[in-house]
Amino acid sequence: MATSSAVVARRPQSRFKYALFSLLGLMFLFVLWNNERFIIDHAHPDWTYYFPVRYLLIPHGLGGLTALLIGPLQLSSRFRTKHVRVHRILGGFYIGGITLAATMGSYIATVHSSVPLRMFTYVTAITWLLCAWTALASVLKGNYQQHRQWMIRSYAVTTLFLTARVVLAVPIVQRLGAGASAQVLWTLLVLSLIFTEFGLAWRSIVGRRPASRVVAAS
Ligand code: HEM
Repeated sequence: MATSSAVVARRPQSRFKYALFSLLGLMFLFVLWNNERFIIDHAHPDWTYYFPVRYLLIPHGLGGLTALLIGPLQLSSRFRTKHVRVHRILGGFYIGGITLAATMGSYIATVHSSVPLRMFTYVTAITWLLCAWTALASVLKGNYQQHRQWMIRSYAVTTLFLTARVVLAVPIVQRLGAGASAQVLWTLLVLSLIFTEFGLAWRSIVGRRPASRVVAAS
């Protein structure tokens, strides 16, 4: 009895993860409908806008989508411990997806986007690559704690694809006009990274102090 309730009951951390991934799932559906339906609806004005870079968008979008979909599996402790080999293989796809999406995104920005969006894309791409490759370097060195933290940071950047489109669709933000998009995106990048750091430090902020330190401080 005690065993089954232990299995059924989820830790607060897992519940938070489920809630977060469910929210991201809903955001994904919204973005597909609100921003990406031009892919099949060629009468949509976005089709004309993206037409010159349509072939570049394919590797960019597929690379980003790979990272977006694989991320939750990679961050699931249960999946990781049960399927170590699959975790490693998917990790390769995750890093590869980000590398492809970030480099193609930077190229698309260079040939297609406005100057403010271009600057934002370069900085985001560098941050994205840095986080993902540091996660890989950490695991190769056997530093699993750092690997986990850098993976979480890289996924925070990955989800900007969703958060940015959802926030830019909010009427009050839309009223700021297209000229404010870059500022909104910069704000989101900074907030995503700050909240991620806060989340990573959360347990050491609210948790109990280790006994040795309590003794030393008293
Ligand atoms: C989950 C990850 C991502 C996916 C699936 C993805 C996919 C897409 C898609 C489908 C488009 C065209 C339609 C649209 O704008 O909604 C696009 C545009 C673009 N994306 Fe991404 N993206 C991702 C992340 C990123 C990131 C992190 C960056 C920045 C480093 C970026 C840079 C760009 C740029 C510059 C454009 C063209 C915007 C324009 O010229 O107006 N993407 N992306």
